[in-house]
Amino acid sequence: MKTASRVLLIVGGGVAAYKSLELVRLLAKAGVACEAVLTGAGAQFVTPLSLSALTGKPARSELFDLTEEAKMGHIELSRSADLIVVAPATADLMAKAAAGIAGDLATTTLLATDKPVLMAPAMNVKMWEHPATRRNLAQLKADGVAFIGPDDGEMACGEYGPGRMAEPATIRDAVLAMLKPSGPLKGRRALVTAGPTREPIDPVRYLTNRSSGTQGYAIAAALAALGAEVTLVSGPTALPAPRGVSRVEVEMAEAMLAACEAALPADIAVMTAAVSDWKAASVAPGKLKKGPGEPEPLKLAKTPDILATLAKGPKRPRLLIGFAAETEALEVNAAAKLSSKGCDWIVGNDVTEAGVMGGAENRVTLFSAQGAEPWPRMSKTDVANRLAARIAAALGDQ
Ligand code: C5P
Repeated sequence: MKTASRVLLIVGGGVAAYKSLELVRLLAKAGVACEAVLTGAGAQFVTPLSLSALTGKPARSELFDLTEEAKMGHIELSRSADLIVVAPATADLMAKAAAGIAGDLATTTLLATDKPVLMAPAMNVKMWEHPATRRNLAQLKADGVAFIGPDDGEMACGEYGPGRMAEPATIRDAVLAMLKPSGPLKGRRALVTAGPTREPIDPVRYLTNRSSGTQGYAIAAALAALGAEVTLVSGPTALPAPRGVSRVEVEMAEAMLAACEAALPADIAVMTAAVSDWKAASVAPGKLKKGPGEPEPLKLAKTPDILATLAKGPKRPRLLIGFAAETEALEVNAAAKLSSKGCDWIVGNDVTEAGVMGGAENRVTLFSAQGAEPWPRMSKTDVANRLAARIAAALGDQ
């Protein structure tokens, strides 16, 4: 299944244009790639250079830029994205789009596209309330354009009322909702933890483990591909956020727990993170110095068990899945974790098997109330897809 994840961002000429930079950053964090087009006025408020740096692609504004046109015409540009976002959508841009005027690259792209369009208007209150803008808004809505905002608030011109562009995080959520693929998990919320945690000893040292986050990231991507709205709470990894997934980055187990609780309610939680079981009992405020004698033994304290805490909590996800990385007696230890952690399924893996921890393959056994089901060795992506399909089937039965 295809996951839509490319946005063409049209930046109109308004003071709110500076917020488009933050929008690009938030979308990138959510795994959505952007390409930008500026109107002539838009380029007065935010530079093509800033937008190019953040999107990683040249920001365009010229309809007849021969070199760029030769590489990608406006027709192709208007079709290459899954969604067109106009932010800020000025009164002028709305009027031109409503009338079908196509005098520059931005408006030509809007007229040529066959993709959904989301506009985030931003203008002075009087302009927003003007009958002409009301007519244009009604026309654009009738043409199928979606709108987010504007918000009430104080504006750059000093007046107060509706006209402020919606905040970038709100626009991002609207974009993600429009990009969401349909699938058996559409409308379901999922929480996935992944990667290691990092527990500080002093300002430069920490306790951690060899987890790369690969399995958890693959599960987040697989759930999103089936239509779930996924929050991935991740410890430090080198991996990019999967497409269409909102990632929250944390370091310590306590921060991971807080981020998980903030992501609830959820229908599904898959806890793949290799959470450090211990932290330093006290974190030294300065770098610990080596002295002439033997070092003091490091005193450890337990970290919170995130999985067990969610299982006992008031917002327990309907389907709660834990992982058990074992180096011995997988069957006994993993099965025991089902009841000790209070989860519904445990995915057990023998991490003594070569290439599993930090590698691309996994051999797992799925433990549930129905018993143990060993899966053959396969790529972590295949484990993720198979698990996501099982989750969809389990929730479909409920
Ligand atoms: O107890 P153990 O670490 O083997 O349990 C593994 C499972 O519990 C994994 O799903 C892991 O993400 C979760 N866990 C947790 N918080 C901890 C330790 C483990 O959520 N502090």
